[in-house]
Amino acid sequence: AGLDTSAVALGKLYFGTATDNPELTDTAYVTQLNNTDDFGQITPGNSQKWDATEPSQNTFTFTNGDVIADLAEANGQKLRCHNLVWYNQLPSWVSSGTWTNATLLAAMKNHITNVVTHYKGQCYAWDVVNEGLADDGTYRDNIFYQYIGEAYIPIAFATAAAADPDVKLYYNDYNIEYAGAKSTAAQNIVKLIKSYGAKIDGVGLQGHFIVGSTPSQSSQASNMAAFAALGVEVAITELDIRMTLPSTDALLAQQKTDYAGTVAACAQTSACVGVTIWDWTDKYSWVPSTFSGQGAACPWDENLVKKPAYTGILTALGGT
Ligand code: G3I
Repeated sequence: AGLDTSAVALGKLYFGTATDNPELTDTAYVTQLNNTDDFGQITPGNSQKWDATEPSQNTFTFTNGDVIADLAEANGQKLRCHNLVWYNQLPSWVSSGTWTNATLLAAMKNHITNVVTHYKGQCYAWDVVNEGLADDGTYRDNIFYQYIGEAYIPIAFATAAAADPDVKLYYNDYNIEYAGAKSTAAQNIVKLIKSYGAKIDGVGLQGHFIVGSTPSQSSQASNMAAFAALGVEVAITELDIRMTLPSTDALLAQQKTDYAGTVAACAQTSACVGVTIWDWTDKYSWVPSTFSGQGAACPWDENLVKKPAYTGILTALGGT
């Protein structure tokens, strides 16, 4: 059995992958993306972000996001929708606009309401607020925080819930996969949202890790338990494990161990509903363009051939 089939047999909702519109012209790539034995879920890597969906104020374009939503529907794959409020990939009318508390709040609510309404019924979950924290656990000083304060977070969740009461609403971030100031701050965000009387269903643990310094299975599992104790589910939402190039047999073996430990942490935690890798092949990974000299972060290589990491994941999911 493949990755999704094994995950579901274990009681998870899905195993999935990110994808992106430009890759969909690659027929060999699409053949594996459509393989529902491995992928029961997909996430659009870029095409639902603010710059893609509302490039100028109150003008919405869903063409590229719809391509991926329609592909998921045609394949019977769940869709994780990504994302509504993030400091990055904002159109310049937001990031360089002239704002007051009231006007930015109105623009944020209008964005959320329109995008969530458009995709109503199509998403398993929305990443409502993405990366709202700095690594020291303070709020990230983004434009929403500057004009609205921490209240932008619960208001974003309440606005999303009003537009689609059925979709799961997630806070999503990195470096919250293990105990520490940032994970504690993310737990405080869950409490903050609830203190406003708003709904949060889940926390996304991105999982952009490094071969050989990936947090241990036990530290990831105990961190998941800390979120679950607050009454939310968790998911690993953007898993990839990069290395300094060139890739060697030893690095690939360590990468297999690191993938297996991370996926096993989700497997052993009932509140962890699924795992998403941040694209499945090194051919389309975001890593090399961001971290010079690093890459080979995905379970399939740039020739779409499975690496040892694939077997590590499968074994962690109880599959053979
Ligand atoms: O769309 C433009 C295109 O018009 C232009 O010609 C081209 C030239 O550079 O750039 C295109 O934009 C790129 C965009 O992806 C769409 O392809 C950006 O340069 C590039 O920076 C952007 O990268 C994305 C990155 O988020 C931006 O922060 C990655 O593909 C995407 O995988 C990555 O995903 C994020 C998650 O959303 C949040 N968590 C971290 C994760 C990895 O950074």
